[in-house]
Amino acid sequence: MSRSKHVLFQLTGSIACYKACAVISRLVQSGLEVKTICSANALNFIGKSTLEGLTRNPVYVDTFEERFALEHVELVKWLDLAVICPATANIINKLAAGVADDYISTTFLAFDFSKPYLIAPAMNERMYAHPATANGIRILKGWGVKVLGVGSGYQACGDKGAGRLLEPEELYGIIMKELG
Ligand SMILES: Cc1cc2nc3c(=O)[nH]c(=O)nc-3n(C[C@H](O)[C@H](O)[C@H](O)COP(=O)(O)O)c2cc1C
Repeated sequence: MSRSKHVLFQLTGSIACYKACAVISRLVQSGLEVKTICSANALNFIGKSTLEGLTRNPVYVDTFEERFALEHVELVKWLDLAVICPATANIINKLAAGVADDYISTTFLAFDFSKPYLIAPAMNERMYAHPATANGIRILKGWGVKVLGVGSGYQACGDKGAGRLLEPEELYGIIMKELG
């Protein structure tokens, strides 16, 4: 019998973290094994207990945490697909600059690009339209990262425009399709 597929699901500091939980829940219910990494700022929007409860796996945040010290390399070997959802403007620009100063960015530099790496942006319309972000997305796409589109409409700040995280059902469909 073939093993279940492994998804590394990474969350960054966006108001849309709550939507990501619905995606994680759908993936787990579909029989996938999901492990999560949170940026420190993501923990302002979501609790570790929520993610641990949804995935029944530990949540990685600190690269130097005891027991998990070389886990970022092991995770890259373990996974069949990596996704950042929601992805902030900050993480997009950081990855595009090759910075590796937290768990997500360190894992990214150790990534094996024969496997799919998805990024689902979520941000204010001006952050999304900023030349730095547009350039970051272009660079990442050039490296083989699949940067997904965004929705348009009401934003948490009250503005309307492009930058909303795609809806959970759509994200779930994209991930499942990538996994074949
Ligand atoms: C209430 C609130 C909501 C935010 N939502 C977003 C967002 O949706 N997208 C984004 O790029 N930044 C957002 N930010 C700003 C990021 O949290 C900030 O740039 C942070 O440094 C990102 O860190 P990280 O990428 O390491 O998680 C928000 C900040 C606050 C206070």
